[in-house]
Amino acid sequence: MIFSNLEKEETWESIAQKKYSKIIAHYLLSYLNDEGSFIRNVANVLAPDGMFSVNHYGEAKKEYDFWEKIIKDIGLDVSFALKKRAERKEMDDDFEKILSEHFGKVEKVLLPCPLTFDTAEELFDRLLRKYPESRKYLEDNKRVIEDYFDNNLLKDGSITVDMDSTFYHCYKSED
Ligand SMILES: C[S@@+](CC[C@H](N)C(=O)[O-])C[C@H]1O[C@@H](n2cnc3c(N)ncnc32)[C@H](O)[C@@H]1O
Repeated sequence: MIFSNLEKEETWESIAQKKYSKIIAHYLLSYLNDEGSFIRNVANVLAPDGMFSVNHYGEAKKEYDFWEKIIKDIGLDVSFALKKRAERKEMDDDFEKILSEHFGKVEKVLLPCPLTFDTAEELFDRLLRKYPESRKYLEDNKRVIEDYFDNNLLKDGSITVDMDSTFYHCYKSED
């Protein structure tokens, strides 16, 4: 079965004609405008003993630990990174609150997804992706940052950064 636009109530009216034992929404929520109404609709069509698996922002704790240490080691002002981490944590907390309002049991599952970087440019691109709001500050310090990458992280040719991705397994009842 192919579902239509999940942002339209008529799609859910058609989905809700039966209940589902397993609902998987991976890498979907960033495309939807209203995550709350999506989660409410899912809870409504999940069978009593069913399981709903979903991911969303993910606190990315390990990766933020990595970047914050490096920013400090380089001697740059780490406040922009701490602000970003706090914002992400708040988004995660809000999302977990929505899940807990609709499901009796919510299990957090961390899946390892390390990334290997071969060049200072690749590392710098990743840094910009993690902190897009601080692009100017990072670009202004690009030379010192990339020198640090070359001289400290890439001495052996490449570096693998430990990261994980957060998924939630949700059940209607607590047991
Ligand atoms: C990044 S893909 C993830 C696909 C798959 N879940 C996976 O993990 O590989 C995002 C999917 O969300 C779907 N999508 C985005 N907005 C949607 C909407 N409003 N209604 C239904 N599907 C939507 C897209 O068609 C696409 O298949």
